[in-house]
Amino acid sequence: MFILEKLVRENVRNLTPYSSARKEFSGAAQIFLDANENSFGSPLPENFNRYPDPLQTAIKEKIAGWNDVESTQIFVGNGSDEAIDLLFRIFCRPQTDNILICPPTYGMYAVSAEINDVKIKRANLTEDFELDVTAIKNAFDTNTKLLFVCSPNNPSGNSLRHDDILKLVKDFHGIVVVDEAYIHFSREKSFVSEINNFPNLVVLQTFSKAWGLAGLRVGLAFASEKIIEFFNRVKPPYNISKIAQQAILHALGNKSQVDRTVAEIVAERERLIESLREFSFVTKIYPSDANFVLVKTTDANAIYKFLLEEKIVVRNRSSIELCAGCLRITVGTPDENEMLLNSLKKL
Ligand SMILES: Cc1ncc(COP(=O)(O)O)c(C=O)c1O
Repeated sequence: MFILEKLVRENVRNLTPYSSARKEFSGAAQIFLDANENSFGSPLPENFNRYPDPLQTAIKEKIAGWNDVESTQIFVGNGSDEAIDLLFRIFCRPQTDNILICPPTYGMYAVSAEINDVKIKRANLTEDFELDVTAIKNAFDTNTKLLFVCSPNNPSGNSLRHDDILKLVKDFHGIVVVDEAYIHFSREKSFVSEINNFPNLVVLQTFSKAWGLAGLRVGLAFASEKIIEFFNRVKPPYNISKIAQQAILHALGNKSQVDRTVAEIVAERERLIESLREFSFVTKIYPSDANFVLVKTTDANAIYKFLLEEKIVVRNRSSIELCAGCLRITVGTPDENEMLLNSLKKL
């Protein structure tokens, strides 16, 4: 039987969380002299002198309705990177516990592990970038607290098989973190609908990709209410600024625009893939369910350097596992993609 408290670090279980001034009061006060704010206002057209809602209630209510979950099953973070870091703080004892990642994958899982002094176990994806379920299961030990699964995966771009992920969620004694940063571009179904079925599942999403709001730094974690309670205990009290909360609420009202942009990016992705195939130095283009493509070339370093001279920056992934010769190219606007293709023609 899954007992969440057994996985949570003892110091976090016993923590008395910081109680912010506004958390202790929910009535209709007229004068706030409790939080050492500046009552005189801000040197801006709009005032930001008051601390923001620590629990981002309005945002959560809207997102909960769309996803058919409760507001209490959502954590809003300063990017999903904050959620990743907090998972380490909640579950992983430094120098004792370990996590499992499936390279090639998003780099912050390993960086957060290093920062938190937590060991990293690796079970590489297969040659076609699928999960090696047997290798993953063989790698678990009693101190393995988190398994990170990124789908669609960065940098390969493919969605991982739904059934493989489900098998792991069912069989792993620890927390399975499914990172869905690119889910809006994917044909696959989100795992958010599974959080009521699996008490060890955490699903990450972000406003940085399909929503086009990377500069605001807002990401989401969906999980059981009990897991989200631990997120709320360890997070900094006011982790999402008022301006970011306002902008997200505004953006949530423009979802149809996001749907249109996603459709355009997906169409542009397919056009880009077709055009890239024409180049003799492109040896393989991996199928993508994201807003980028992984392209295998005959000489990634030379092409990367040449593009930099052309003032075009792509991501050189040629030195990481299973990605020899590979560049990761984000799908740009039609004009940007055209400029990229024109530059490549000069090679
Ligand atoms: C797979 C994946 N997860 C998470 C993130 C971080 O997202 P955020 O901007 O929400 O911190 C990225 C950013 O590139 C990513 O590729």
